[in-house]
Order: sequence, then structure tokens, then C-alpha cells
Amino acid sequence: SLEFILLSCAAYLLGSISFAVLLARLSRQPDPRSFGSRNPGASNMLRLGKRWLAIATLLGDTGKGALVVWLAARLGFEPVQQAWVGLAALAGHILPLYHRFHGGKGVATAAGVLLVLSWPAAALTALVWVGVFALRATASLASLAACVALLPWTAWHSPELQIPISLMALVVVLRHRLNIGRLIAGNENRFRF
Ligand code: G3P
Repeated sequence: SLEFILLSCAAYLLGSISFAVLLARLSRQPDPRSFGSRNPGASNMLRLGKRWLAIATLLGDTGKGALVVWLAARLGFEPVQQAWVGLAALAGHILPLYHRFHGGKGVATAAGVLLVLSWPAAALTALVWVGVFALRATASLASLAACVALLPWTAWHSPELQIPISLMALVVVLRHRLNIGRLIAGNENRFRF
């Protein structure tokens, strides 16, 4: 429907807002695309040493994903349509209109989408993320493990959302190709606290 197309476009435009870039600019910090992993995301904001900036980035990027799915639900769209609206926000985060289509990896935005679509799935992925991060202090490995855990969970618990959610996980994994290379080479960035 026209309503669905308009909502998806709005989701893409909202998803295109990079909270890492925006918050770095507002707080006069270096652009996240110029240091660390050069990724505009919460993990790289943490490398600045400003924990509150990382938390605000996480909340913003997660919030935009959650907001569009919540809106889709409020407008009466079916869960599978809500998921596709969420994917439009994810596409915005990864290929942002305002940043020459050079975006982030989509972990936080996908988490926000998941939170509204299926909070148990979001809880599982958050648990896996935190668990792996606590053990290995490596954000990318935690994100990849969360994506992998999500696939069988979705197939079992929400088969009607399996295609869009699996696609979301796949896209996030593909965005980590440089991280995967570093993980294999043994020189991926680890956090030291
Ligand atoms: O938030 C994305 C995370 O999985 C990896 O980020 O900056 O370590 O490449 P980064």
C-alpha cells in the first residue's frame, strides 16, 4: 500500500541519521569515521573514552530502529510488514542518504528493530552480546555471535519472521567483513578497561 511505502521511506530517512556522527559533532569530539575502526557506531565511540557518548549513540541508533517498528505496529501493519519497515531503517543506517551511503554496521539499529518485533529474541541477542564481550572484550565478535544465535532462535520461535530477521542478521554479518578478517588474523581491536 501507499502507506507502507511512505512509512518505509520515512524509516530509511530516519535510519540514515548516524547518532555517532551527530553526537560527535554536537559534543565537539573527533568524527568516529576518522579513528579506531572508523565505524560510526557505539563501539567506536567507546574507543574515544567517553562512555556517555557511546551510551547515547547506542540509545539513538537502537531507538530509531525501535521507533519505526513501533510506528508500523501502531498503524496496524502485520508483524512481517513491521519487520520490513525495520529493514528499511537498517538500510538507512548502513547506506545513509546524508553520508554518501557510508554508514555503520547496523548492530544497534537491528537490536532496536528486534526489541519491538520480539523482545525475547532481543533479550537473547543482548545476552549473547554481553556474554561474549565480557569474555573476549571484542565488540565485533560479540555482534557476530549474537547474529549467529539469532538464526536458530527465529526459525524455532518466530518462523513467520524468519526471512526478514535472517536477512537482517546476514546483512549485519556481511558488514563485519573487515572485522572478520582481523579476527582471523588475530589483530582485531580489543577493549581494555
Ligand atoms: O557496533 C559494531 C561492532 O560490532 C563492531 O564495531 O567499531 O569494533 O568495528 P567496530
